[in-house]
Amino acid sequence: MKLNIVKNKYNKILSLIAITLCFYGCGINKKRNSQMEVLKMTVEERVDSLLAKMTIAEKVGQMNLYNGFWDVTGPTPEAGSAKLKYEHLRKGWVGAMLSVRGAKNVQEVQRIAVEETRLGIPLLIGFDVIHGYKTLSPIPLAESASWDLKAIESSARVAATEASAAGINWTFAPMVDISRDPRWGRVMEGGGEDPYLGSKIASARVQGFQGNDLADENSIAACAKHFAAYGFSEAGKEYNTVDIGTSTLYNTVLPPFKAAADSGVKTFMNSFNELNGVPVTGSEFLQRDILKGAWNFEGFVVSDWASINELIFWGHAKDKREAAIIASRAGSDLDMEGYVYVRELVKLVEEGVVKESIVDDAVRRILKVKFELGLFDNPYKYCDPVNEEKVIGHKKHHEAVLDVAKKSIVLLKNEGNLLPLKKEGQKIALIGPLAADKNSPLGSWRIASDDNTAVSVLEGMKKYTGNTLTHKKGLDLVVGHTAFIEEVVVNNTNRDGMDEAVETAKSADVVVMVLGEHGFQSGEGRSRTNLDLPGLQQELLEAVFAVNKNIVLVLNNGRPLAIEWAAKNIPTIVEGWQLGTQSGNAIAQVLYGDYNPSGKLPMTFPRNVGQVPIYYNYKSTGRPENTNDNVFWSHYIDVENTPLYPFGHGLSYTTFEYSNFKVHGSEFAIGDEIKVTVDVTNTGNYDGKEVIQLYIRDLHASTTRPVRELKGFELTHFNKGETKTIEFTLTDKELGFFNNQGKYIVEAGDFEVFVGGSSTATLKDSFILKH
Ligand code: NOJ
Repeated sequence: MKLNIVKNKYNKILSLIAITLCFYGCGINKKRNSQMEVLKMTVEERVDSLLAKMTIAEKVGQMNLYNGFWDVTGPTPEAGSAKLKYEHLRKGWVGAMLSVRGAKNVQEVQRIAVEETRLGIPLLIGFDVIHGYKTLSPIPLAESASWDLKAIESSARVAATEASAAGINWTFAPMVDISRDPRWGRVMEGGGEDPYLGSKIASARVQGFQGNDLADENSIAACAKHFAAYGFSEAGKEYNTVDIGTSTLYNTVLPPFKAAADSGVKTFMNSFNELNGVPVTGSEFLQRDILKGAWNFEGFVVSDWASINELIFWGHAKDKREAAIIASRAGSDLDMEGYVYVRELVKLVEEGVVKESIVDDAVRRILKVKFELGLFDNPYKYCDPVNEEKVIGHKKHHEAVLDVAKKSIVLLKNEGNLLPLKKEGQKIALIGPLAADKNSPLGSWRIASDDNTAVSVLEGMKKYTGNTLTHKKGLDLVVGHTAFIEEVVVNNTNRDGMDEAVETAKSADVVVMVLGEHGFQSGEGRSRTNLDLPGLQQELLEAVFAVNKNIVLVLNNGRPLAIEWAAKNIPTIVEGWQLGTQSGNAIAQVLYGDYNPSGKLPMTFPRNVGQVPIYYNYKSTGRPENTNDNVFWSHYIDVENTPLYPFGHGLSYTTFEYSNFKVHGSEFAIGDEIKVTVDVTNTGNYDGKEVIQLYIRDLHASTTRPVRELKGFELTHFNKGETKTIEFTLTDKELGFFNNQGKYIVEAGDFEVFVGGSSTATLKDSFILKH
C-alpha cells in the first residue's frame, strides 16, 4: 500500500493509526477505507483523538502563551529568560508564542514544537498586526473614518497577507472596544464611539484577516479584543477601573464583540480592566455566561498580557495559585506571558481543585483553531522565506493602503474654499513639526515596520511641481523618544525655528501647517489629560496666523483633539490622522483635489477636555433645555453643550442636498419592515462621495434611549449634478434594545427618524410602532 510521506509528526501519528487499523482489518479495501476514514475525520474528532493522548502537563502546556525573545509589549511578571522558554518549549509546555516573527524565526520555534516534543503539536504564532505588518494602513480609528467597509476589509487582508508571509498565523486584532474618551490613548486602535458603526467595522476586519477559509495560506486567525469594557476605563486612564451599568454594557460595549463572534472570529482576548468589581480576566459572567454560553462561541479566549497574574494586584486573587483557579474557571483559556497556568495548573488538576474538564475544554478550543488553520497538515505553511521576500511590501499593498488612507481623511472645515489648492502659480509655505516627519504618520502599534518609512506630507506635496513650495519646520514637537515602548518627551521650550517659519509664511499665498501628535503619543499606555496640540504648536499656529490667515491646518493625530481656537480662526482644517506608509501621498492628493474627501468622524471632537466623555448618542436628562432662562438645566456654565465637531461630521469639495425624505407609512406593527427613502443630490462642482446616515430616536421607553442612534449608513458616489434615491429598511434589529436584565426587547411607541450627512442631521420624520 502506498502511503503519503507526511512531514509533521501529527500526520505521522494519524498515518500510524491508519496503518494499525489496516493491519487489524480484513482485506485490502477495508484497509484503504479505514485509512480514508481517519483522514476524513472532522476537526472535532481529530481534536478529541489528540486530546486523549495528552498528559495533564501537555494539556496545560497548550494553555501557555509565551512572548518571544524581543518586542516586549508589557511588564514581565517573571524574568522570562529565553533559556527557560526554550526548555518549556521542548517539553511541550508551550502552546503558542507571540512576537516571534519572520519566516525563519517562526520556522525554528515551530520546528522545536513539531519535531522535538512528544506529540509534535504546532504552535500558534500571535502578533499585534493592528494596522498592517510592514506596509501600514491608517491607524484603525482613522480607517474607521472612511465608513468604507470594503476598504477596511481590504486593508485587513493586506495586513494578513504580509503577516502570514512572515510566519504569523494569529493577529491580536481587531480591537473592537467602544470608547467615548479621547484621553484614553487606545482609541487609536478602535472603531470609535458608536456600537452600530463599530459592529460593521468589527465584522469587516474579521473577514479581512480570516478570509473565506482559515486554511488559506494568507488567512490568519483574528482576535476580538478586549473583552470587555476596557474602552470605559475611568477618567480615560490606562488599565483603570470600569464601572458601568447593564444598559451601557449590553447596548454599547458588547454589540461589536457579538458582531465579531457572528462573523466567525476564532479568538477573543480578555482585558486588563475590572468591570463592576470583577477583573474581567476572572469574569465568569463575561466569558462563560455571555461569550461561551449565550453566544455559543466555540473559539478560545486568550488573556491579555499577564492579566491572569494581575488578578493578584487587583486584589482579587491571593496568589498565583488562586489566580489560576479563578481565571481557568472563568474561561480564560490561554495565559499570555503570565506564568500562572504553567506554574500552577497541573498541580491544581492533580489535586482535584480545578476540574480536568475545564482544562480539556480550553485545550479543545485551542487545538480546534490550530486544526482549522491547517497547522497540523503543514505546520510550516507560513514559513517560506522566499515567499516572505516576495510578498512583504508588494506594490499592490502600497496601492491598497494608499486607497484606504485617502478614504480616511476628514475635511473638518473649508471656509472660503481654500481647498483644493490650485496646482500652479502659488507660493506655498509648508510649516510644522510633522510636515516632513516620516515616522509619526506610522502611528503606534507598528512593531514590524521600519522607522521613518512613511511618505511625509512634504514628499507628497513635492510631487506637485506647479507651485513654489517652501518648507520650514518651525519647531520640534518632541525632544526625543527612544524605542517603541518609551514615552516621548515634548518640546515645551525650544522656539529656535519659529521666527524663520513665520517669516516664510508672510509672503505665501497659502500656508499648509501640519500639526498634531507624535506617533507615540497615542496607543497603549498613552493616556493624556490634555487634548490640546502638544508642546509649542498652538503658539506656532497663532504666530503664523498673525501674519497670514490663509492657513490649511492638517492634523496628524491618534485621537480627537480639542482645537477650539483653530476651529474658530483657521479657515480650513483637514483631519489627516496617522495614515500609515502612504500618508503624505494621501494627504497631498486630497489637498490638491485629486481625491475628493469623504471621511466622517467616528468619534466626537470635544471643545475642551472638560466635556469628556462627550458623544452623540447621549441621554436626554430630565432637564435637557433652558426653558425658563435660568441656570437649572443640564449644562456647563463655561462652555456650550455641543461638541466642536460631532460624530459623523465630514465635508467634501462638493455639496449634497437631501430632499423627499420619508418614512413609508406612519403606523407599523412590531416585526414589520419599515421603508425609509431620501433623495440625495450632488449640488456642487465636483464628483464626490457622501456617507448618508440614518439615526433613530425611541422617544419613550422602559429604559431610556439615547437622543439619537445610528441605525444605517450608505457610502455612495455621486457625479456632479446627480441625484440618487437612497433606501433604508428598519426592522426589529434596529428598533429594539437590551433592557437592564440584558434581554433584547422591542417596545411599541413613538419613533423619530433622521437622515443626513452627520449625527446632527435635521431632516426628520416619525412613525408609531404598535403591538
Ligand atoms: C497588551 C495589549 O493590551 C494587547 O492589546 C496586546 O495584544 C498584547 N499586549 C500583546 O502585545
